[in-house]
Amino acid sequence: MKTFDDLEVRRPELARSYLELLKAQPGRPIALFAPRRVGKTFFLDQDLTPAARASGFTPVYADIWLHRTSPLSAINHALEEALDDATVPTSAVGKAAKTPVKKVGALGAALELGDEPKRRALPAEPALRLDTIVARLAAARSQPVLLMLDEAQAVAESSEGASIMASLRAVLQKRKRDVLAVFTGSSQDALAAMMAASGGPMYQFAQLLNFPVLGDDYLNLLAQHFSRVHKGKRLDLAALQAAFVHLGFKPALMKDLVKELSAEGSTDVEATLRRMASDTNNVRGWMALLAPLSPFDRHLLVLIAQKKPPIGKNTLKELARTEGKVPTVAKVRAALERLKRVGILSGAGGDYLIEDPLLVDYLFANGPDRLL
Ligand SMILES: Nc1ncnc2c1ncn2[C@@H]1O[C@H](COP(=O)(O)OP(=O)(O)O)[C@@H](O)[C@H]1O
Ligand SMILES: [Mg+2]
Repeated sequence: MKTFDDLEVRRPELARSYLELLKAQPGRPIALFAPRRVGKTFFLDQDLTPAARASGFTPVYADIWLHRTSPLSAINHALEEALDDATVPTSAVGKAAKTPVKKVGALGAALELGDEPKRRALPAEPALRLDTIVARLAAARSQPVLLMLDEAQAVAESSEGASIMASLRAVLQKRKRDVLAVFTGSSQDALAAMMAASGGPMYQFAQLLNFPVLGDDYLNLLAQHFSRVHKGKRLDLAALQAAFVHLGFKPALMKDLVKELSAEGSTDVEATLRRMASDTNNVRGWMALLAPLSPFDRHLLVLIAQKKPPIGKNTLKELARTEGKVPTVAKVRAALERLKRVGILSGAGGDYLIEDPLLVDYLFANGPDRLL
């Protein structure tokens, strides 16, 4: 029996179209942008990886965000794992077959194996190492590598971002027959800044694309399953579409909403959506998220939820309430950076976005008076 959690949208055509694009422009990576939690990683894993295999590529995935402090090691590590898979035989038979025989005993019974074949060690210097592993992996597999760098904006945010980008670019260009690359980024502006920084290593190099969010396919799956569970009841597609927009096109939140409807046996999408912002479990999570913040940061967050420009004159005036005096722009900028670092906020250049749309509702509904 299927549950709401089993409902998944596959996008093989989208995956194939990206592969075609990459093949048509050797040496040039593509960078896919989308906000958090809309399905980038899911797509790389479930759609792009199998499509790459089917088209004769060796897919290699590295999550840069998980290794923000040493992005190049994270990439190299992922490639080395793939190289191991390609060269180190896993079965005993495979191992014996790759190992030259030293001595065959009388009657050929005792078979002594020599040392395993060895290659020159990989260079220790990370940029050279990247270059070498890419070449070795492509050679070992006799096919090009599809390198998927998830949350690649974390490279830009690392201390050696620019030099790592330069190394990546050099390797991608030099080894264009051996490797294709896809970057994803959720912090739109950081990835854009990294890719488009004039004079920077990626300038006019990567092709920037907006990664499409899920559409009616997903909503229809949810609605169909709802009707299977609740015979005779139907969810209105237009109401679901409006809710999906409100939820920032995040499928997991949308699924929560429909699960909630299903639990209540209700078809009133709007009412349930409104209630989710005051759901005790959610509220508990947000309180835990907001508690460690200073009153100033919290106040700023409330103003952003109210769609006030964070560095606007009036915003600064309102912030004087928690600060005692009108804060400096530098102080607000520092607070914005802090909120970005903890993952509550994304964006830059005056266009900030609170990642969790339900948190926006919560902040909006409660206002500064109850949250400070
Ligand atoms: N194609 C899809 N079909 C169904 N659910 C999806 C799909 N893509 C993503 N999701 C859901 O959304 C969640 C977040 O997706 P994820 O790929 O981690 O987002 P991102 O990488 O953009 O932050 C997943 O855990 C999954 O529950
Ligand atoms: Mg992801």
